[in-house]
Amino acid sequence: MAELPGDKSISHRYAILSAIAEGASEITNYATSADCRSTLHCIERLGVEIDIGKERVKVSGRGLRGLRESRRALDAENSGTTIRMLSGILSGQPFATTITGDASLRRRPMRRVIEPLTQMGAEIRSEDSGRAPLVIRGGQLHAIDYTSPVPSAQVKSAILLAGLYTDGPTSVTEAVRTRDHTELALREFGARLDTSKTMVRIHPGPKLEGRQLNVPGDLSSAVFLTAAAMILPGSALILHNVGLNPTRARVLDFLISIGASIHPTSLQSRHGELVGDLSVRHAELSGGEIAGAQVAEMIDELPMLAALGPFTEKGIEIHDAQELRVKESDRIATLAEGLRRMGASVEEFPDGLRVAGRSAGKLKGATIEPHGDHRIAMALAVAALGAEGETTIRDAECAGVSFPEFFDVLDRLRGLKN
Ligand code: S3P
Repeated sequence: MAELPGDKSISHRYAILSAIAEGASEITNYATSADCRSTLHCIERLGVEIDIGKERVKVSGRGLRGLRESRRALDAENSGTTIRMLSGILSGQPFATTITGDASLRRRPMRRVIEPLTQMGAEIRSEDSGRAPLVIRGGQLHAIDYTSPVPSAQVKSAILLAGLYTDGPTSVTEAVRTRDHTELALREFGARLDTSKTMVRIHPGPKLEGRQLNVPGDLSSAVFLTAAAMILPGSALILHNVGLNPTRARVLDFLISIGASIHPTSLQSRHGELVGDLSVRHAELSGGEIAGAQVAEMIDELPMLAALGPFTEKGIEIHDAQELRVKESDRIATLAEGLRRMGASVEEFPDGLRVAGRSAGKLKGATIEPHGDHRIAMALAVAALGAEGETTIRDAECAGVSFPEFFDVLDRLRGLKN
């Protein structure tokens, strides 16, 4: 039985909206991830008072227009969600802010937010052709109707947040529906939105009001533990209080479709988010293909799904996932490299990879370089549990970017620790 850290995506949103709401908010089960701490540090720099306790985070909201100019640059460290979502808020502020991050974040594409936010009237300067650091000078913005060329919840969220500062309703249309935590959280704080399957429109005007919020456990983190239980014979695992928002839970449908024994129970709605328990058992997996709309719906789980390949009958094949190349690392290349080191048979494509199934042989222990990427470190650690011999994962503490307790929880579940 295990409790999970709070959901990373939802924690970012609750912290950011609390900062621009009127009055105090209190967030319990706030993510322990380094990324979510980066968000708190950035909003503190903008004059927001934050009290981080053991059980909860208190944020004294300054209202939509109460943020203060920061003389020093904001540091989003490794967090794409922090820099992209805050870019939306900073676009509505009547001062200039520099926002940057670590070497990995400074390599990632920011044009996808610069373009729409500039159309809305923000001035955004990037010295390195569309990469951080970004200097954002905001002000009164114009409403736009934007069709996003990349399915990305971070881009959608940046535009919706900037839409709080416009002269009329702003809409975002996406070819594939991405996670809708921003829409649900905005409503919870009192914003007015219309939503259809692939379009969201925000109406500026209503004040946001501080809230008492509880963050569900992180499904993307749960998937690593679930995968370990699936591949280790005799395993049975119950995870409590897991976020099961349908725009995130497609990974469970996929796993069930390839034979996994996963049962959600005790479903309830909290602040608009679906939450429940998951019960997981070891099962024989057939393997399968992931492509098209499924990719955006389970983008963060693809490293773990690829690493399950050698434990399945037919292997795992992923296409249409070129976005993986611009995550915390080039995840297609880092996965292929790591899995090959463990003896897997991997074919790499520009937009994905094929990892052969059981017939290609058992994985063997190896020394793995996750290239500072938390999800690669955790996915390959789970694969290593099913491999013959010992695996060393260099710089394994990078798991703390999303799941600092990962190795401890894994040891506890395996009975190696109390
Ligand atoms: C996230 C959206 C996804 C995801 C990231 C978190 C979010 O990124 O990969 O880990 O919280 O909105 P993209 O929007 O770039 O797909």
